[in-house]
Amino acid sequence: MVKIVIKKRIKDFNKVISVDGDKSLSIRSLLIGSQSYGICKINNLPKSEDILSTINGLRKLGIKIFFKKKICYLHGNGLNGFNYKKNIVIDAGNSGTFARLLLGLLVKSPYSIKIVGDESLSRRDFQRIVDPLKKFGAKFVSKNIKNLPLKIIGSEYLKPINYFETKGSAQCKSSVILAALNTPGKTIVTAKKSRNHTELFLKNLNLPLKVINKKKVDKIEVVGEKQFKSFEYVIPGDISSSAFFVVLTLLSKNSKLKIKNVNINSSRTGFIKIVNRMGAKVKFINKRNICGEPVADIFVKSQKNLKSINCPVELNSNAIDEFLIIFLLASRADGISNFKKLEELNKKESPRLKLATMILRKIGVKVKSSEDSIKIFGNPKLHINKKILINNYNKDHRIFMTSVIAALTLGGSWTIHDMDSHMSSFPSFLSILRKIGYRFT
Ligand code: S3P
Repeated sequence: MVKIVIKKRIKDFNKVISVDGDKSLSIRSLLIGSQSYGICKINNLPKSEDILSTINGLRKLGIKIFFKKKICYLHGNGLNGFNYKKNIVIDAGNSGTFARLLLGLLVKSPYSIKIVGDESLSRRDFQRIVDPLKKFGAKFVSKNIKNLPLKIIGSEYLKPINYFETKGSAQCKSSVILAALNTPGKTIVTAKKSRNHTELFLKNLNLPLKVINKKKVDKIEVVGEKQFKSFEYVIPGDISSSAFFVVLTLLSKNSKLKIKNVNINSSRTGFIKIVNRMGAKVKFINKRNICGEPVADIFVKSQKNLKSINCPVELNSNAIDEFLIIFLLASRADGISNFKKLEELNKKESPRLKLATMILRKIGVKVKSSEDSIKIFGNPKLHINKKILINNYNKDHRIFMTSVIAALTLGGSWTIHDMDSHMSSFPSFLSILRKIGYRFT
């Protein structure tokens, strides 16, 4: 248990940085690449633990993956081309995205495969993905099919399904779309709006996938069993990782930051819309398209006057990974901020709504919260003079990074446990802070 101690705020800065590659796109490029024919070339994959779990898992399934000059080469074996021994166990570590999306690719596997995860992942809900995959014909032979460990056996006789995704979970939607790739016929997914990387990825490969965007849902039709060729892919920076640095800049004095090459897919930019409604002036510059995804540089300046927000619930799923850092910003805003219908937040790497309530109270912020909502009484003069200890948070990477940003901007003497937790999604987090000018004691 390595801890970090922060006793000083960060000094003014004016810098240009790049964050690690996007987690969602990295996992998708590896998993989709494993189903292609030929050698995929993937550039800018982060060496985060979630990505290493994905690479190790695919290697166990017979996919050759190696690195040359920072580029990842992956030998795809075609649809359902996994080649593995009986009774293998795949460790998904902390990664819900890898575990859930991989299960979708295993609906046709001939032998049983056991998926395990770390303590946090083993507490998370898998019933949400077991139910639709069973409808395709896959079997789950574990006693408890709600959580990991789970044993899946695929079926030779898969049938396409009509699936309604109601939680706004891109992992569930994507897992079903990936299962549909190996299934004959047309699978139809009607999904509450959520990040659409899987759809864009498959469309960019010219696969027979049709998307109809309706007001509240997206209807996706996928025709399965179509082989496709390997591809080259460049992973843009992760907007969820950028969010920590955007808030660091907004809450610092006289500072400016440019974050280069960040994915700005509109199903991921809820965070930017929210902070701009709170009075920030975050801009996207140099917009371009890379491998079917929109990319830009983010420019942000310190912001003295932040307003509270009644956060529109339509933005929830587009900002789902950013709420912890948004709550921190709301604590320094003028007025009372309200966030509603956030029941999914308690189902992440830790029960985030509950822990955010506890931590905000610990640092002197008035908060009222329920199972799915939080009301934050902001204070533009919020300043901490005491010792703060952050521990027992399920090693949730986003709680760690939010706490570091709070320590660097609000003052006080902070001890934050489980420093390695950020390695699951953002290994360069601390080295970027050093680049911006912070010297850790
Ligand atoms: C992800 C979807 C989201 C998000 C997670 C990554 C993805 O999870 O929280 O970090 O890559 O599809 P849910 O699908 O559970 O909302």
